[in-house]
Amino acid sequence: MTKDKASIVRSFHSVYIIILIVGTIIQFSDENDFAVNKSNKGLIHVPKDLPPKTEVLDISQNYISELHLSDISFLTGLKVLRLSHNRLQYLDISIFKFNQDLEYLDLSHNQLQKISCHPITSLKHLDLSFNDFDALPICKEFGNLTQLNFLGLSAKHLQQLDLLPVAHLHLSGILLDLESYYVKEHETESLQILNTKTLHLVFHPNNFFSVQANISVNSLGCLQLSNIKLNDENCHLLIKFLSELTRGPNLLNLTLNHVETTWRCLVRVFQFLWSKPVEYLNIYNLTVVKSIDKEDFTYSETSLKALKIEHVTNRVFLFSQTAVYTVFSEMNIMMLTISDTPFIHMLCPQATSTFKFLNFTQNVLTDSIFQKCSTLVRLETLILQKNKLKDLFKVGLMTKDMPSLEILDVSWNSLEYDRHDRNCTWAESILVLNLSSNILTDSVFTCLPPRVKVLDLHSNRIASIPENVVSLEALQELNVAFNSLAHLPECGTFSSLSVLTIDYNSISNPSAHFFQSCQKIRSINAGNNPFQCTCDLREFIQSIGQVSREVVEGWPDSYKCDYPGSYKGTLLKDFHVSPLSCNTALLIVTIVVTGLVLAITVTVLCICFDLPWYLRMMCQWTQTRHRSRNIHLEKLQGTLQFHAFISYSEHDSAWVKNELVPCLEKEGIRICLHERNFVPGKSIVENIINCIEKSYKSIFVLSPNFVQSEWCHYELYFAHHNLFHEGSNNLILILLEPIPQNSIPSKYHKLKALMAQRTYLEWPKEKSKHGLFWANIKASFNVKLILTTENNDVKT
Ligand SMILES: *[C@@H]1O[C@H](CO)[C@@H](O)[C@H](O)[C@H]1NC(C)=O
Repeated sequence: MTKDKASIVRSFHSVYIIILIVGTIIQFSDENDFAVNKSNKGLIHVPKDLPPKTEVLDISQNYISELHLSDISFLTGLKVLRLSHNRLQYLDISIFKFNQDLEYLDLSHNQLQKISCHPITSLKHLDLSFNDFDALPICKEFGNLTQLNFLGLSAKHLQQLDLLPVAHLHLSGILLDLESYYVKEHETESLQILNTKTLHLVFHPNNFFSVQANISVNSLGCLQLSNIKLNDENCHLLIKFLSELTRGPNLLNLTLNHVETTWRCLVRVFQFLWSKPVEYLNIYNLTVVKSIDKEDFTYSETSLKALKIEHVTNRVFLFSQTAVYTVFSEMNIMMLTISDTPFIHMLCPQATSTFKFLNFTQNVLTDSIFQKCSTLVRLETLILQKNKLKDLFKVGLMTKDMPSLEILDVSWNSLEYDRHDRNCTWAESILVLNLSSNILTDSVFTCLPPRVKVLDLHSNRIASIPENVVSLEALQELNVAFNSLAHLPECGTFSSLSVLTIDYNSISNPSAHFFQSCQKIRSINAGNNPFQCTCDLREFIQSIGQVSREVVEGWPDSYKCDYPGSYKGTLLKDFHVSPLSCNTALLIVTIVVTGLVLAITVTVLCICFDLPWYLRMMCQWTQTRHRSRNIHLEKLQGTLQFHAFISYSEHDSAWVKNELVPCLEKEGIRICLHERNFVPGKSIVENIINCIEKSYKSIFVLSPNFVQSEWCHYELYFAHHNLFHEGSNNLILILLEPIPQNSIPSKYHKLKALMAQRTYLEWPKEKSKHGLFWANIKASFNVKLILTTENNDVKT
């Protein structure tokens, strides 16, 4: 049942994934087919050859100065039109009347002075900012843009009811560019914006802030001001400007971008905001100019929760550091972020501090920060990433009086620990410690907070994890990637370890014991190590196979053999060696057993099938074939009439006539037999010599009878003599019956010598072996001879 369910769910999943993929492909092709990008092409006109199906058209950053109905009216599916950074001076919005689907129209950064109106009810995003409008370009038709979400505007002057036509719309954002705004003499303008969640005002980047307008927004939640240039004289203008905007109870988020100010003015702005409902204040790209002096600050009760200052440039060179740091260190807020600044220090708050979160990333803070500081009792998170910290011991000491500290990030410093003589002290409350990207070595394991749960030590110089370290029983996550560890750790000291990241180290032979030792492991990433693919690794690979796939991060792709060369790059998954080559005992046993089996087989073959005889015959056969191939035929031809002369004892004639001769003649071998071919009238000796000389080979059928026959010895003598004359192996000895060595009379030493020197063919008793015997004999005649006929020879 459950299995069925699971498979149904799985197939559902795969169908869903396929739909997703198909969907993405369609979307992609959509984009490819219907999006046209002609941005930054030096265009003077809208191109005429646009595909009518175009949905997204980008012709921004060109030199287009006019837009006509005919340019785009045929793009009936147009949804997005980007026309920013062109040279339009006038626009008749009614030219979009045929683009019923137009949702996004960006006309910012042109030179528009005038627009004529027409409602395009589909519009969601309309950007008219950074143009040359004198008054806000609001038509009463905009009141019909019920879908409108974002409105970008620009103006040199403001009038209170300019935005009345759109007051009933629920906008989520208004961008109001006041770059070219200028103040009419002795006149304060005002503007009422009724409904928007966020308002972004942009002032002139180089002029001192001078806007004297009362802008009020009802339900503003988020205000962003860009380009604010302040000095001690115009500081009050910004404060006045802000006081109207920050009146509403909902403004929780205030962001200032690109602020250039004196220190005094900045502190005044802080002081002003301290009593406002703003909860989150962000200042990005702050430049401090002129001078820095000690400023008084009253830390009254505040709604402010978090102050974030990122990227500070200080143009003041002589000043008291304390004047700056005191303002921040005494702040009665929960979260403070000061990053990417030239701050070299931060003071310890004088009284019990409200800080829970401090982020001082990327400054130039040193080890002296917060030493002997016992007022940060509520501090839970301290981030000192990318500073100039050097001594881990001092970092530990710093935390000693921070009883609530749970998260400490001191990554990207130059931390070392070499004070083995002194015991480190840490806040016991620390749960997460980030020591990554420092220059710590093995000794770091003797200087760690005792209850740490998450420890990040990646990118350090750790070569091994010492065995006798203080036990870190609470440690659950350990990251030691990018070090030079050679082994996986034992979990004896880390009994709770459940996540281990140890990729990019020098582990060549991870022990399979790891998984037994670390029972609680939920996830291990040991990829990208230089694995040595030898027998020892098999156990580890097997043990990986036993744990579930999700446990081993990056398996199988990040696990590759590095050594030996023949396996380099092979995935561990695909690395297989036979158990035999890895187990010496098994190897020896196998060799011995195989040897024994072979020996027994050979013995059995010898006993049952007379293997040596076969071997001998085979050997001769190959030798003969080889020899016969090397014979110079020309020499032999002409004088020969027969292939063979056979010498045998009378007693063996039955075998010769019934077996040997028929068999040879069947193969076309011509035989000289004395009773058949001897020429009458010649002496026996003459006949024998004649016969031997006219034959290519001489076959001697040896048997005890042969030894007894005198004639046979003569024949043998002549044949042998002939043999030496010719220098070729013309004797074939067939041993018909075994001849005891001592039965050969000593005067026949020739025969004795021949039998000793030369190999002979034994006539086997078993019928099954006869085939090979005959093959051997025939092989001796494996020569094509052109024999002269007997008659011719007789005549010569
Ligand atoms: C430690 O800091 C580094 C960057 O400095 C970051 O990538 C890493 O995620 C942090 N580790 C933890 C456990 O938060």
